[in-house]
Amino acid sequence: MDFSASIFLVIVSSMMLLYSANSQPLVPAMIIFGDSVVDVGNNNNLYTIVKSNFPPYGRDFANHKPTGRFCNGKLASDFTAENLGFTSYPPAYLSKKANGKNLLTGVNFASASSGYYYTTPKLYHAISLDQQLEYFKEYKNKLVGIAGTSNASTIISGAIYLVSGGSSDFIQNYYINPLLYKAYTPDQFSDILIQSFSKFIQNLYNLGARRIGVTTLPPTGCVPAAITIFSSNHNECVDRFNNDAVSFNNKLNATSQSLVKKLSGLNLVVLDIYQPLLDLITHPENNGFAEARRACCGTGLVETAILCNPKSVGTCSNASEYVFWDGFHPTEAANKILADDLLTAGISLIS
Ligand SMILES: *[C@@H]1O[C@H](CO)[C@@H](O)[C@H](O)[C@H]1NC(C)=O
Ligand SMILES: *[C@@H]1O[C@H](CO)[C@@H](O)[C@H](O)[C@H]1NC(C)=O
Ligand SMILES: *[C@@H]1O[C@H](CO)[C@@H](O)[C@H](O)[C@H]1NC(C)=O
Repeated sequence: MDFSASIFLVIVSSMMLLYSANSQPLVPAMIIFGDSVVDVGNNNNLYTIVKSNFPPYGRDFANHKPTGRFCNGKLASDFTAENLGFTSYPPAYLSKKANGKNLLTGVNFASASSGYYYTTPKLYHAISLDQQLEYFKEYKNKLVGIAGTSNASTIISGAIYLVSGGSSDFIQNYYINPLLYKAYTPDQFSDILIQSFSKFIQNLYNLGARRIGVTTLPPTGCVPAAITIFSSNHNECVDRFNNDAVSFNNKLNATSQSLVKKLSGLNLVVLDIYQPLLDLITHPENNGFAEARRACCGTGLVETAILCNPKSVGTCSNASEYVFWDGFHPTEAANKILADDLLTAGISLIS
């Protein structure tokens, strides 16, 4: 990072501290859509095997409580909420907490194993993005009931929206599903996902969203489970997955820019998690990590969701030394670094 960028960050951080000291967040609300990268418990009561509301998930979270986050502690989006000055995280929409005044500062519709492609959530009984938008409409009506029409519309237009998708479409669907990989090249599949993304953003815009951050794909070829299952020597990142991710991310970026041109008043920012996560994986020691190949949970080679449980053998004692918590998801320590890296991009959403 160069000097002026550092100064900028210092100013931004001080600004945020100032706001949070007054307990006045920088935006009225934070509203989240997507997959397991940002899910905080919507899958808990669904008929799905893709859950994480049991130990050791959440062991480093407040009160050591598993919440349905796919992490030992906080997600990058939790740190973002803190950075914006919120004193609580947007509750899972399907949880009891998503009620009354709690709804005023936002809500989280994300569901692990959801994605841009229509069969991805179906395969895992997760909540599709279309259904998440239906819930958002319902949420808007509730908000009008709680805060009145005029306040509700201020909240909806001023809120920050976070969208995360695509990882499950590739890893949990395309790469393992002959119906897809025989029918489409990765490039064609990316185009299909991007069309769906574009439609989603336009729908969200039509429902009043104006400040939207969308996360890129991570380096999908470097997550521990992908290396274990798909790498020829079981030790190196799967290059073709990473290439697909880069190509998808470029399309995401280009399409986001054309959406901004097309939809007046829309502020849509691509939040790059690919490069910062790849940096952590290639040079873990530079950021105080000891291990990037294996995850903390179990053997660290594949265990995720129900396979990462209290009986998993080998779970590490200190997750802060690890980049990955389970076979697919970063630790809280890695998420903190990702969230800090997103700060600069994120700030352009609220200015
Ligand atoms: C709208 O917000 C204002 C300012 O926060 C508040 O005083 C007022 O009570 C709110 N209106 C309703 C209907 O809740
Ligand atoms: C998106 O494209 C713009 C302009 O082409 C570039 O400056 C930016 O770095 C790209 N962002 C990402 C996340 O790739
Ligand atoms: C866990 O690891 C982190 C990072 O290496 C280190 O800073 C911390 O002191 C460790 N905690 C314990 C309890 O050993």
